[in-house]
Amino acid sequence: MKKITEADLKVLFTEEEIQNSIKVLGDKLNNDYGSEELYLICVLKGSIMFTVDLSKYLKMPLRMEFIRLSSYGSGFASTGKVNAVDISLPDLNAKNVLIVEDIIDTGHTARFLVDFIRHNFKTKSLKFCSLLDKKVKREVEIDPDYYGFEVDDKFLVGYGLDYDGYYRNLPYIGYIET
Ligand code: IMP
Ligand code: MG
Repeated sequence: MKKITEADLKVLFTEEEIQNSIKVLGDKLNNDYGSEELYLICVLKGSIMFTVDLSKYLKMPLRMEFIRLSSYGSGFASTGKVNAVDISLPDLNAKNVLIVEDIIDTGHTARFLVDFIRHNFKTKSLKFCSLLDKKVKREVEIDPDYYGFEVDDKFLVGYGLDYDGYYRNLPYIGYIET
């Protein structure tokens, strides 16, 4: 595989576009949850940037949990196999729970997580928020309750998303032409 540099990236969403979209999502969440307590579940590593920025807009009493899943290898395609690296969670019974993801691609990760939480807890509510939704790639039926942008079938990096571990720190989202 050819070595990729930042010069090979094309900008898809600028830092400003991302931040504007997160503010809109934050307003929606504030409106929908009101003053109800909420647990944010950040799915590491990809959704670290999104969760942190989103959380700053939220006004309800908030608790944050961080779990770590992996599905991608170091290539461009989703393996469809979800690896629960660290999925330890507190007691979520009777809690409002919002899973925060960077992107839903095939949907296997989202499906796994929702099923895992449903199987282990009787939550008050369970919703899913993803910054990006790659709907055209869906293999299992699942739709986010909230999302920022719908995206085409391109391999994206930046703002938490990586290629072989790199580019998570970029403040924008770009794509690699494959
Ligand atoms: P899914 O299980 O196929 O829906 O994939 C979900 C996970 O794959 C996401 O949480 C990302 O970490 C990763 N992923 C999916 N699409 C991309 C992409 O375009 N760039 C980088 N990572 C991606
Ligand atoms: Mg992810």
